[in-house]
Amino acid sequence: MEKLIDESVQGAALLLDKSIKNSRKLYIESYGCQMNFSDSEIVASILASEGFNTTDRLEEADLVLVNTCSIREKAELNVRKRLEKFNAIKKNKPHLKVGVLGCMAERLKSQLLEEEKIVDMVVGPDAYKDLPNLVREIDAGRNAVNVLLSKEETYGDIAPIRLHSNGVTAFVSITRGCDNMCTFCVVPFTRGRERSRDPQSIVQEVKELWNKGFKEVTLLGQNVDSYLWYGGGLKKDFDKATEIQKVTAVDFSDLLSLVAEALPKMRIRFSTSNPQDMTLKVVHTMAAYRNICNHIHLPVQSGSDRILKAMNRLHTRVEYMTLIENIRNIIPNCGISQDIIAGFPTETEEDHQDTLSLMDHVKYDFGFMFTYSERPGTMAARKLEDDVPEAVKKRRLEEIIALQRRHSLYRTKKYLGKIEEVLIENSSKKSDAQWMGRTSANTVVVFPKEGYVIGDFVNVKIMDCTSATLLGNAVGLSENN
Ligand code: SAH
Ligand code: F3S
Repeated sequence: MEKLIDESVQGAALLLDKSIKNSRKLYIESYGCQMNFSDSEIVASILASEGFNTTDRLEEADLVLVNTCSIREKAELNVRKRLEKFNAIKKNKPHLKVGVLGCMAERLKSQLLEEEKIVDMVVGPDAYKDLPNLVREIDAGRNAVNVLLSKEETYGDIAPIRLHSNGVTAFVSITRGCDNMCTFCVVPFTRGRERSRDPQSIVQEVKELWNKGFKEVTLLGQNVDSYLWYGGGLKKDFDKATEIQKVTAVDFSDLLSLVAEALPKMRIRFSTSNPQDMTLKVVHTMAAYRNICNHIHLPVQSGSDRILKAMNRLHTRVEYMTLIENIRNIIPNCGISQDIIAGFPTETEEDHQDTLSLMDHVKYDFGFMFTYSERPGTMAARKLEDDVPEAVKKRRLEEIIALQRRHSLYRTKKYLGKIEEVLIENSSKKSDAQWMGRTSANTVVVFPKEGYVIGDFVNVKIMDCTSATLLGNAVGLSENN
């Protein structure tokens, strides 16, 4: 009797194992920057060839992957909280495996396995092609770690599986890593050296998206203006390139032209631009093509020259203002957005006032604003004391956010009475009877659905606004359809 039970249990285990192998369910959750969301689509593609189908339902997952962010301490704490939730699920589902991907994986390495018992696998941003092997390891009951960084990997040969897609807008990564070493930033440590992706593979991916009905792509990199393709490898090694490689090299402006010309009706966006690397050539290229959107995300971080220097941002306040002036001269209605950090070490009240006055000068359309969070291993953490009290950081941040809200309203009000071309992306979050889309300058527009469908370019008359949203009525399809 005892033997019989044993055999049937074994049989059931085998059956279970086989059915799991044939159609295992992968649940991926992404945190942080757009690049992480884009990377998760690469991961889904790599694991699809191993028989994993993605699911939106955590409860049916066999493998849970969390693509993590380390940019601020809070981002990491959120992930750790989420891991507790997976732990609770695993209690009723012992075969569930959990992997941590992305920046936290890279930063904490195998330490994560010790600190978070639920974690079976730790995979850094350059090691995703090793996932099939790593999954076999965890299937065999062993923990698996690969956090090797690469000087070449761009995943240019992987066709991403679009996750949570509206079928209209997509991310396309063009560079990986960052060589800039801003002193507050953990990204150069977690994502490694900067590499550019072969322009032909970028154009090919955008073409495939167009053929599937997509209407807008956002070209992604930590620092897109630094894009440089001369046959692969690190940008810093460009000096060693052959004469031919130097002559045929493709910079970011060239890449924009290539994509804009290959797909003249595809809307093209890009993010993020670092002011120190952005050239006017790029701005002129934006102006030359109707399908390149008039929006630049141009993080400034601080308006104080002293703080910019301490952050290793290699431009001054005046240089930044001159760049803004040039952008506005070349593209008069260009949307401009910011990232600002409140309370960087040694920041005085005067430095803070410099940030507010710079904001007043630019009047950004919108921005992402945070208090400084010390990240272990960065130059700022090693050399500077995190000396601005938390309450002061918070108060300065509130002032920055309040001012930004006023500027956003100033910008949205300028649209009143105008007709804007909007690409419909989704139903409005607030009302199912309304569409949500964006203008070229990246401002959100909400309007009644009428007979239009997702993916239509619609001319919308702007009737009302809040600081974040334009409200209007469609007046017809635009000629771009
Ligand atoms: N070039 C990147 C920037 C990455 S980090 C990109 O593509 O977005 C995004 C923003 O996070 C930065 O611009 C900065 O404003 C903010 N940030 C980075 N490190 C931070 C830190 N230690 N504390 C607070 N904010 C930080
Ligand atoms: Fe970070 Fe500066 Fe690069 S903010 S991502 S080190 S441009």
